[in-house]
Amino acid sequence: MKQLMLYCRSGFEKECAGEIQDRATALEVFGFPRLQKNSGYVLFECYQNGDAQKLVKELDFNSLIFARQMFAVAAEVTDLPREDRISPILEQLSDVDTMPLCGDIRIETPDTNEAKELLKFCRKFTVPMRQALRGKGALMHKENAKKPVLHICFVQPGHCYIGYSLPGNNSQFFMGIPRLKFPADAPSRSTLKLEEAFHVFIPRNEWDERLASGMWGVDLGACPGGWTYQLVKRSMFVHSVDNGMMAQSLMDTGQVKHHQEDGFKFEPARKNVTWLVCDMIEKPSRVAQLMGEWIISGWAKEAIFNLKLPMKGRYDEVLQDIENLKVFLIENGVKFKLQAKHLYHDREEITVHVQCLSNISPH
Ligand SMILES: C[S@@+](CC[C@H](N)C(=O)[O-])C[C@H]1O[C@@H](n2cnc3c(N)ncnc32)[C@H](O)[C@@H]1O
Repeated sequence: MKQLMLYCRSGFEKECAGEIQDRATALEVFGFPRLQKNSGYVLFECYQNGDAQKLVKELDFNSLIFARQMFAVAAEVTDLPREDRISPILEQLSDVDTMPLCGDIRIETPDTNEAKELLKFCRKFTVPMRQALRGKGALMHKENAKKPVLHICFVQPGHCYIGYSLPGNNSQFFMGIPRLKFPADAPSRSTLKLEEAFHVFIPRNEWDERLASGMWGVDLGACPGGWTYQLVKRSMFVHSVDNGMMAQSLMDTGQVKHHQEDGFKFEPARKNVTWLVCDMIEKPSRVAQLMGEWIISGWAKEAIFNLKLPMKGRYDEVLQDIENLKVFLIENGVKFKLQAKHLYHDREEITVHVQCLSNISPH
């Protein structure tokens, strides 16, 4: 297999392509990205056969910022007839001997406005396609989350890419997008950004421990309170820092202290904060630096924050800010885990998570 399929937000194909080019080269996989603006996907064409399998195995999916999903392409099928799309797909797959036995199937489409109709078709097509693949022995009879996932990605009604991703090195979500419902009592839609970040960055089985009730959080740039709402919902106490107005419903919970101050100057009086979250609209380099200072000072154990992207040079800016933050933490003796993602609910921004694992010198 020579092609790697990557889904991304429509309009961010260039960033996704730049990233996969750099990351593949670092693994000594050589090739070039094919992209079309606003298509919602990038195809990375490797020069060498077998390199797509190497990438799905060795390229750490969680370390990619702009890709929502990645899979190795086993076959591309074009001109599928309306009356029978199943047979040509089965035929193509039977020619590929490197396709692993899969435990699950996702029939998807890149996430674009035009693809809404196609998505309806994908949903309808899933049941008959699944049955046919099971009949051919390409798919296990019972769903198995430990086995590879078979992806069929329709880019047009008669045109699809078929391939697989590996469990543990893919997005667990259909189309790489967690489906979240907007909570009716949340003060702003931004609330979904932080909720999605929890789903993407914190393994579900660690939520009880890492997002525990009674913890303290600090929310910089908090108003009207969508992010604070997420922490309050988990029974935490929050210092919400912003000169604006907080939603009264949050203040009424008694779990929120509103500080009308500059987020760059705020210092928590008691050093009992677990979570630092930050959604201030500010220069990304400044925000990244501030987050580093909090972690190095031992003022917070985990941070989730947005880096707003500039109009131009979005990929370079993000790489530089993250690199600077990593160097800053390392030079100050902090051991950490860092992950950055362009989330579904992010637009001109990315979300970063830093977990402090050990810190030799809290000031
Ligand atoms: C995108 S909004 C935050 C939305 C919020 N996360 C929510 O879910 O409701 C950005 C906020 O950052 C605040 N802000 C910008 N610069 C700030 C600063 N230096 N200190 C404190 N707040 C700041 C603005 O007042 C604004 O309310």
